[in-house]
Amino acid sequence: MLSKIDSLVKKVEGFSPSSKEELESFRLSYLGKKGHLTSLFNSFKEVPNEQKKEFGLAINNLKNLVQTKISSLKPLFSENNTGPKPDLFKPVKNSSIGSRHPISIVEQKIISIFNSIGFSVSHGPEIEDDWHNFTALNLPEDHPARDMQDTFFVQTNPDVLLRTHTSSVQVRHMQSNKPPIRTLSPGRVYRNEAISARAHCLFHQVEGLYIDEKVSFSDLKQTLLYFAKEMFGKNTKIRLRPSYFPFTEPSAEVDIYWGLEKESDYRITKGTGWLEILGCGMVDPNVLENCGIDSKKYSGYAFGMGIERIAMLLYGIDDIRLFYENDVRFLKQFSSTNL
Ligand code: DAH
Repeated sequence: MLSKIDSLVKKVEGFSPSSKEELESFRLSYLGKKGHLTSLFNSFKEVPNEQKKEFGLAINNLKNLVQTKISSLKPLFSENNTGPKPDLFKPVKNSSIGSRHPISIVEQKIISIFNSIGFSVSHGPEIEDDWHNFTALNLPEDHPARDMQDTFFVQTNPDVLLRTHTSSVQVRHMQSNKPPIRTLSPGRVYRNEAISARAHCLFHQVEGLYIDEKVSFSDLKQTLLYFAKEMFGKNTKIRLRPSYFPFTEPSAEVDIYWGLEKESDYRITKGTGWLEILGCGMVDPNVLENCGIDSKKYSGYAFGMGIERIAMLLYGIDDIRLFYENDVRFLKQFSSTNL
């Protein structure tokens, strides 16, 4: 009898009706008055006492199986389910596709422009020591130019800080690589500034560094002109203004000509038509020596730019705080952007 129950279990498992009627006759053949289960329960009397427990369990199992089978198949043939069966293998429809953050879009664009002229990407830590962030970059302790960058120190150790610029990565890169060096270092930096529409306590920079024999200021100028044209359009003009950075000598700030067509152009360029986009210069020989590079044999240039600033110009964003709020109404606007 046990083997009979077994074969019924198999039949129930394999049962797949194609109509409501077929399902109903299945139900009757098992649960009806003259069905398999009634006859099994009837023959239960004849089962020897010591086997009753085993048979009882098997019959009950079969009954449960039949009942679950029927209740799972029933909805398929119910009156309000006459349409086609649902396709359970259909891929899920993705109703909202994410988008890249504008900072990532601009960062990638900068990287791809410099990749095309031989620069590779390098990274460094955001929690830095004093030497890599300042001292090696020709900013010894008590140097007044340290005040240019309001620094977050890690309280328990005044030697540890949140990097104030990605120039610290050029130090690390020079320490562990030999010239020729052509590297680009994107990343997040931190400054203890009051948060406003124009400034934030964190932002992103890209640092560039090129070291080889006989690198000159004209190489720097030409590279930056190429970059500006790729980034802002082929008619872009640039100008270099003398400036001061402790780690470069001579140093310059680079402006692009933005124009004075719209009223907003007067506001963002302070009426000059020119906009500053980056700082640059020839790497100071002290910096090369600090990083173990022979400054008699090699020279190089470096530059650094803020990614938010460039993104704000390109997209006409007038409040830096928008970048960090993760408001989908802001982020969604970049979903189809492919700079
Ligand atoms: N580190 C500078 C800053 O954060 C940017 C900079 C200026 C980087 C001139 C350079 C450079 O490499 O040559 O303001």
